[in-house]
Parts: sequence; C-alpha cells; structure tokens
Amino acid sequence: MGEVYAVANQKGGVGKTTSVYNLGVALADINQKVLLIDLDPQASLTFYAGFEPDDIEDTIFKCLIRNTAAADTIISNKYGVDLLPANIDLALAEMQLLNAPARERRMTRIINQVRDQYDFIIIDCQPSLGLLTINALAAANKVIIPVACEYLSIRGTIALLKLIAKIRGQLNSQLEIAGILPTLFDTRTNHAREILGILKRDFREYHLYPYQVNRSIRFAESAADRKPIFENRVQVPGALAYRDLARELVKTKLRCASS
Ligand SMILES: Nc1ncnc2c1ncn2[C@@H]1O[C@H](COP(=O)(O)OP(=O)(O)O)[C@@H](O)[C@H]1O
Ligand SMILES: [Mg+2]
Repeated sequence: MGEVYAVANQKGGVGKTTSVYNLGVALADINQKVLLIDLDPQASLTFYAGFEPDDIEDTIFKCLIRNTAAADTIISNKYGVDLLPANIDLALAEMQLLNAPARERRMTRIINQVRDQYDFIIIDCQPSLGLLTINALAAANKVIIPVACEYLSIRGTIALLKLIAKIRGQLNSQLEIAGILPTLFDTRTNHAREILGILKRDFREYHLYPYQVNRSIRFAESAADRKPIFENRVQVPGALAYRDLARELVKTKLRCASS
C-alpha cells in the first residue's frame, strides 16, 4: 500500500516542487514505485518532469471535477516516475469544488484508486492553504515541510502547523508531520546557520531532517533543462539531501510495516 506524502508550505519558492521531483526520482532510483501528483495550477512539477502542461488534455483537474479515472490520467517519464499532471485549468478547481459534496475528500478518492500500485505517492501542493492543499492534507499519511533557511519562512511554518492541527482534528486524524526539510541553505552565510538554530530550538517537537538542501544555481538550471538534479555532470552538494531523504523514507516505511 502506497505511503502518501504531501509536500506543503504556503510560502512560494521554498523548494516544494524541487523537493517533490528530486525526491521522487531518488526513490525510483532505489527501486520504489513512485507516483507524483501536481496539485499546483502553475504546473511546475509537470513541466520539470518533462511535459508541456498546456498540451496535456487529461489532468488532475478532470479527475477532481469530472471524475476521470486516475489510471487514464497518469503519465510516466524517462526518469522512472509516474505523474498525475496539472495545467492552468486547476486554477478553476477551487471555485468549482466550493459547493461540491465531500469537497475536501476528492483527492483521497482519486488516490485510493491507484494506491496499491505504488510504494510512494507524493503530492506537490500549491503555495496557499486553500481547498486543494486541504484535499492533499486530507489524503496524506504524512507531510514534509520544506523551509527555506530565511527568517520569513519560519513565520509561514507556524500557520501551516496550525492548519495541520485543524485537519487532524476534523478530516484526517492519522496525519503525521514527517519532518521539516531545510532548503536553500547557503553554506556561506551566518544567517542560514542562525535559521537552522531557530528551527532546532522552536520546532523541537518535530523531526528536523539532519541534512540540508544547499542553495545552488544548479537547481534552477535543472528545472530549466527538465532534468533531475542527479543528472548534472558534477555532483551538486544539495542533491545528496534528496538521496538521504529517499533512503530515510524507505527505512521508515519498512519499519512501520514490520511493527
Ligand atoms: N536548493 C536550491 N538552491 C537554489 N535554488 C533552488 C533550490 N531549490 C529550488 N530552487 C529554485 O528556487 C525556485 C523555487 O523553487 P520551487 O521548488 O519551485 O519552490 P516552490 O515549489 O516551493 O514554489 C526555483 O527556481 C528553483 O529552481
Ligand atoms: Mg511549486
């Protein structure tokens, strides 16, 4: 049964999409069957994975609004991951879902159709705490929160933690916070180290992943080239965090399965 992770933070530009894609490829590289779900109308994940969002007819929007089967919508890429793609149509979904029955559980239903075919299902959330993100959190077992190592990022994290507590109370009592992943870590600055210190101190009841994704221009290049960060000719230090995270996710899954 696939473990469902939502990667969420309502702040944009903190590395959600970069994390979802590279973590997904890193998991596929260690023989995990992976489905990535693009739940952001900006469709950056769909683009990063090598597709033209505007050319795709069948997207997650149709699954959400018209009940198209997930199996008919999933596409695969050459780096070994499957994708439920998005395009700008998804921007209409929140409005259209507003008066729909069970509007917070649409994603859960979609995922349940294919869950037993995957080891990991990872949802890339949009940068807001709206209905799409609520759908993702209602469907997920666990949340990974990427936090950019900058001061403003920390404030947003508190709002997200509050929403997660609410979701746990109302929609998904099983939802766990898997961990906080420090991203955009600039090894050259004291500020980034200070932020890590604050994360350790103020969020100590949560698991802070012990590896940071270093800031590197190679990530922006990798998205523009639509190649996973591991395809870079030289090894990018920040990329290793995604390999480590993939191994940790597999270990956790095996541990849970055997207990
Ligand atoms: N570790 C990193 N170092 C440098 N740039 C990064 C890193 N991770 C992501 N980026 C870049 O930052 C921008 C925002 O990242 P993205 O993953 O799209 O964030 P989000 O999905 O949270 O909005 C993109 O241009 C991306 O290529
Ligand atoms: Mg994104």
